[in-house]
Amino acid sequence: VRRPVRIGLIGTGKMARAHGQAYLTAARFFELPVEPRLAVVCGSRERAEAVARAFGWEEVAADWRRVVERRDLDLIDVCTPTGSHAEIVVAAAGAGRAVLCEKPLASSGGEAEAVVRAAAAAGVSGAVVFNYRYVPAIRQARDLIAGGRLGELRHLEFHFLQDWLTDAGRPMSWRLRAAEGGGVVLDLGSHLVDLVQYLVGPVGQVAAILSRSVAERADERGEPQPVDVEDHFHALVEVAGVPGTLAASRVASGDRCGFGFQIHGSRGSLRWDFQRLNDLELYLDDQPALQGWRRISVTRPGAHPWADAWWGAGHGLGYEETFVHLMTALLRRLGGEQAEVPTLEDGLRCQRVLDAMVAAARSRAWVAV
Ligand SMILES: NC(=O)c1ccc[n+]([C@@H]2O[C@H](COP(=O)([O-])OP(=O)(O)OC[C@H]3O[C@@H](n4cnc5c(N)ncnc54)[C@H](O)[C@@H]3O)[C@@H](O)[C@H]2O)c1
Repeated sequence: VRRPVRIGLIGTGKMARAHGQAYLTAARFFELPVEPRLAVVCGSRERAEAVARAFGWEEVAADWRRVVERRDLDLIDVCTPTGSHAEIVVAAAGAGRAVLCEKPLASSGGEAEAVVRAAAAAGVSGAVVFNYRYVPAIRQARDLIAGGRLGELRHLEFHFLQDWLTDAGRPMSWRLRAAEGGGVVLDLGSHLVDLVQYLVGPVGQVAAILSRSVAERADERGEPQPVDVEDHFHALVEVAGVPGTLAASRVASGDRCGFGFQIHGSRGSLRWDFQRLNDLELYLDDQPALQGWRRISVTRPGAHPWADAWWGAGHGLGYEETFVHLMTALLRRLGGEQAEVPTLEDGLRCQRVLDAMVAAARSRAWVAV
């Protein structure tokens, strides 16, 4: 019998559903040294009961403080709005629980440092849901870069462009309130920064411009409320000495989720687009007569660490499986095996860049991370 890992999930929104599903799928498709048990889901009664029914959580709870203290839980999974992450993770770590936290780890570098300190003091392990690291094509991109196939990197461009806030009639939500960790820098910027640091290296310095397109939006009662966060940024960055740009938006009309990157080197280049996430585009200069971009379907057996568990060459995976791969790695680690997960320190490293971006935009000057 495999040791159970009893999970307490805080939050009942989109990510709570993604995570519950991913634990179940990980256990069904991958060999794991432990067995995930969906023990308790925490949130408002009606929503928690609906999530519990849909995914098979054994119990519901209303107060996260009671949940993180429970001695019968092994892992606390934090899927609440960003502004509450640090407080919950610090409390969970202080109570000796391992933690998984949605991205970004916190609302600021200072908060993220407090999280890392609390986990170190308690000797607990933690991970952050930078799930795009688990896209097979992104794994292959990382291997190609690390193996030097692109030569010396010359420049890069990463973007995450959405358009769901283009309409000024869209209502207020936590994603539009600074106090709750809203804003596109924390939301989409955290994915871009983690990805560029994962693929290329640490961001050394940054210059940025932030903008907000709609100053007021209606709350649940139709009353206008001020929007105190940005909904777009463009940043110039230096990443391990490589110059580039990062851009993210929620008002990029026409781009539902235009997420991707390109990286150019002295001997080759690559690019990736979330809308075709199983493909990686590669250019290599090694065969002069055959030069040109090629599109690799990263689905062959052996093409990536998770291929054997899935359907076969040419059968695509999607967004959902990024969480399955991450939960598989996390559960393997909790079972004492070697597996790589994005750590709390990675979450802190990301947050320092986001802080620098905001400081750079305020001062209109380059800021070192
Ligand atoms: N990795 C990804 O691709 C990805 C995608 C979307 C969101 N996220 C992150 O996941 C987190 C949650 O986002 P979401 O899309 O699920 O939001 P959501 O609005 O769908 O859900 C948030 C949930 O938190 C609950 N909540 C708020 N305060 C709470 C509290 N004090 N105690 C318990 N529950 C509380 C809300 O009731 C709601 O159920 C955010 O930090 C976001 O940045 C990550």
